[in-house]
Amino acid sequence: MAAKDQILLHLEERKGNWVSGESLAKKLAVNRSTIGKHISQLKNDGYPIESSPKKGYLLQKTADLVTPREIRVGLETKVFGRRDIVYFTETDSTNTRAKDLAVRHAPEGAMVLSEKQTKGRGSKARSWFSPSRDGIYLSLILRPTIPPREAPVITLLTAVALAETILSLTRLRIAIKWPNDILVSGKKLAGILTEIGTQGDSIDYVVVGLGLNVNTPQFPDDIRDKATSVLIETGKRFSRVRIIREYLKWYEAYYEVFNNIGFEPVRKRWRELANMIGQQITVETIDKKYTGEVQDIDKDGALIITDRTGNSHRIIFGDVTLI
Ligand code: BTN
Repeated sequence: MAAKDQILLHLEERKGNWVSGESLAKKLAVNRSTIGKHISQLKNDGYPIESSPKKGYLLQKTADLVTPREIRVGLETKVFGRRDIVYFTETDSTNTRAKDLAVRHAPEGAMVLSEKQTKGRGSKARSWFSPSRDGIYLSLILRPTIPPREAPVITLLTAVALAETILSLTRLRIAIKWPNDILVSGKKLAGILTEIGTQGDSIDYVVVGLGLNVNTPQFPDDIRDKATSVLIETGKRFSRVRIIREYLKWYEAYYEVFNNIGFEPVRKRWRELANMIGQQITVETIDKKYTGEVQDIDKDGALIITDRTGNSHRIIFGDVTLI
């Protein structure tokens, strides 16, 4: 872990209390001026740290950081979030980091969190706006025993778990948009990026990346009309840590249902939360554009639509626009 991240974690452990430069230097086995340099960087990044030549450094009590320690306090899960949380103040992409860990045999339920991403990735090679400490950038590692063609159901399961999380903590009227979006008033609040690694005919790992705009006050011009945040929609700031704990709880519950019973109960809830059935949509796939009415999602998570001539189409991946 980078020295900067280690310092932040030490300060976080003693949040609201002074920590001497000397003790930090000892813990990291570096000199005090190196500590001072990293602290300046953290302050520049906007972390609320006070410095005193006599007392050392203090991270303010109110700092809302998504550190493993914060997440584990009051966490109501058995596996998810209990072990192997890798935390960064900044990284390229939590999905990229999680894939690295997955190929190095990280267990199911391991996850990567970052306060900021410099190369946050969206679907179809788009980028994901990931400003420091405003959003949640979280990637979970799963090892489901399903064939690769069923992997899309994991995205739908994630959307359901996330929708339940938002509904239980806010009064937002959200809708799931197939396959990987959560919308509020037609704007995107969250996105899911599912990536898989296979070994022969079976899945080795699934990395499920969640990007949720929580306390983002505004968006760059090019996405201002399309994106929104919990803050923009409710006028209130929310604790990201609390949202993460709730998400892990819902995720674990649905994942257990999925493993024990199958996709059907998840599909039932998806239909209610997505509210897409019977809607007129257009879907752009890599090579074609379809317009029609949504019939359903099938047992593998594909979207079934009927066009004007009555022909039915099964779509595995695409960009949906509601008409
Ligand atoms: C989309 O809607 O296009 C998917 C967005 C997924 C963004 C998240 S943020 C955490 C994880 N790391 C990434 O680089 N992407 C996902």
